[in-house]
Amino acid sequence: MAVGIFDSGLGGLTVFDAASKRLPDVPFVYFGDNAHTPYGVRDAEDVYELTVAGTQRLFDAGCDLVILACNTASAVALRRMQSGWVPEDKRVLGVFVPLIEALTERRWGDNSPPREVDVKHVALFATPATVASRAFQRELAFRAIGVDVEAQSCGGVVDAIEEGDMILAEALVRSHVDALRRKMPEPQAAVLGCTHYPIMEDAFQDALGKDVSVYSQPKLVADSLADYLDRHPDKKGEGQVPMFLTSGDPQRVSDQATRFLRRKIEFHAA
Ligand code: DGL
Repeated sequence: MAVGIFDSGLGGLTVFDAASKRLPDVPFVYFGDNAHTPYGVRDAEDVYELTVAGTQRLFDAGCDLVILACNTASAVALRRMQSGWVPEDKRVLGVFVPLIEALTERRWGDNSPPREVDVKHVALFATPATVASRAFQRELAFRAIGVDVEAQSCGGVVDAIEEGDMILAEALVRSHVDALRRKMPEPQAAVLGCTHYPIMEDAFQDALGKDVSVYSQPKLVADSLADYLDRHPDKKGEGQVPMFLTSGDPQRVSDQATRFLRRKIEFHAA
């Protein structure tokens, strides 16, 4: 009975890293769908089918609670999974809600009606599939009124990070921020809506300027998970070792993951 973390590939390790530091006693099982990454350019049906298959693998590994660390999966597949696929004794949660709760200054799990909030102009940086889904705007509308969201799909950034080309990744971040500013000259807040972007948080902050509050997911997701497990202790597993599973080549993915997190990570075939 461990907690599962699902991602399309390596990026979700940013969420795993924050969650395992926040909850050192919880055994996490990570599944990276490296054979099918990236999800950000796939169509909705594809993302749904792949996310269901990966989540099932985590259920089979003994997880009762699965976090979709992947924003694209959270945006495109989560609602559909929750409304018909997830078994009654299991839970699947995404990464948008903790972020929106922080943005709208709500307590974790506050389900009161939408209300006016301080922030009025929000920039969303995400993959093309996440932007096309409009899931962020939908989840925000459940919680806040009068917030203008401008979404910028950030082609190329994920690939540049995975290839370790940080100079290219930084140049792309600047050009996506410029493109966003042409549509919304003065955002008050910026949401980094992709697993890989926390690695570029300084570049986003620098390009946006110090007056823009940048919301990055890993810590917010880890805090909200800690709160959720406090309220639902039955979903917390005990005494199992963390495990990293991949649909890709375990040796190759282990090498990439070790570079990505800058510590040794060993993946096994899923
Ligand atoms: N994990 C994806 C996300 O957070 C980024 C990588 C991908 O496109 O698969 O949206």
